[in-house]
Amino acid sequence: MELITQAPRGTKDVLPGESAAIRRIELNAMAAAERFGYNEIRTPVFEHTELFERGVGNDTDVVQKEMYTFLDKGGRSITLRPEGTAGAARACIEHGLLAESLPCKVSYISTCYRYEKPQAGRYREFSQFGAECFGPTEAAADAEVIALAVTVLSDLGGAGAYSVQLNSIGCPTCRKNYTAALRAYFAAKAETLCGTCLGRLERNPMRILDCKSPICKEIAAGSPLITDYICEDCKAHFEKLQALLQNMNIPYVLNPRLVRGLDYYTRTVFEFVSHESATEGLVFCGGGRYDGLVEELGGPPTPALGFGMGIERTYAVLQAAGTPLPGKSSPEIYIAARGEAATQAARIAADLRRSGRRAEVDLMGRSLKAQMKAANKSGAAFCAVIGESELTAGKCTVKAMQGDESYEVPLASFAASFAAKQA
Ligand code: HAM
Repeated sequence: MELITQAPRGTKDVLPGESAAIRRIELNAMAAAERFGYNEIRTPVFEHTELFERGVGNDTDVVQKEMYTFLDKGGRSITLRPEGTAGAARACIEHGLLAESLPCKVSYISTCYRYEKPQAGRYREFSQFGAECFGPTEAAADAEVIALAVTVLSDLGGAGAYSVQLNSIGCPTCRKNYTAALRAYFAAKAETLCGTCLGRLERNPMRILDCKSPICKEIAAGSPLITDYICEDCKAHFEKLQALLQNMNIPYVLNPRLVRGLDYYTRTVFEFVSHESATEGLVFCGGGRYDGLVEELGGPPTPALGFGMGIERTYAVLQAAGTPLPGKSSPEIYIAARGEAATQAARIAADLRRSGRRAEVDLMGRSLKAQMKAANKSGAAFCAVIGESELTAGKCTVKAMQGDESYEVPLASFAASFAAKQA
């Protein structure tokens, strides 16, 4: 039979070792979120396609080009979630969480799917740590959300690895004039725009600003800036946010060209960009306000904001920064034994594991010599050999694999004696 030895394009196996680092990132992120008052939400991997069409926006690259959409056996159009915000908002509306006391703060680790061209840091299946805060209009909430992302990274030891880019893309009121200015600008260059952007020109010219085609990018580089069209209220909100960030000692860089790739954003938008040389320029976290999304999805008018941090990209940035992260775990003790003694070793290993210790025994029927080799390879801190004479004496010697430490322990109370020595 032919072997199937390749994972689908754009997917990534996380092998033992790497998985420990990834788990550390995820646990740290969720723990930081808890300190900020966020509770975990789990939503389905697939949703009705319409949720993303309405939520993320019909003119976005995500909806137009990147969704994994299919008809299920009941003929319903289903989409694997390309991001976590729309599902979280849908769930909060559906379960009445937005009718309870606000703010409603939820966090998640979600696997997402986007049919993108795979490249470094870009996959078709990836994970996001996300935090969404429903309810507040205050700029203090924007500052708190950014502070959460910053805290996640400083907890992980990645404080110096990135910069925070910040912009305000205004509200629908100030967006009207800006959209008109963009339309006029791009219309004059319409013949050079890509087919997708030509379609966006009338409907949603802001989406041209994050087109990935090099020609559209070049044209967009000279386009009018939102900052020149922002209304007084949005400007005041943005200034307040900046003052709050300064007050919290969170450095940021203003980037008037930052618009984000999803339609739901209003006012504040931000991105965390790596400045480590191996991942230079990689955007690994992005978010902002989306004050109109809940209403757009049929919920009560509820301002909201949040961010998504890509787990794989965050891992890449932390690695590039040389941040120590855990790898494959190794046993604390390897107990080598054969024959009848192996039965004792298995009982001792079970006792050790029940008391929270990492213990290994041979499962391969190896000779004692080969077991010692395996103990070495496993990276065990200690080893013990149980042979005929140890069985008879009812005790054995525990030896450190590195250095000279060694001591005797009774076989009958091995786990307790080992624990006492380790304390
Ligand atoms: P996004 O910028 O599309 O925003 O994605 C957030 C993060 O997910 C990115 O910064 C990146 O780290 C990761 N990501 C996105 N696409 C890929 C990919 N193809 N491969 C690997 N990683 C990827 C959102 O998704 C919004 N829902 C964020 C948000 C939450 N805004 C408000 N609340």
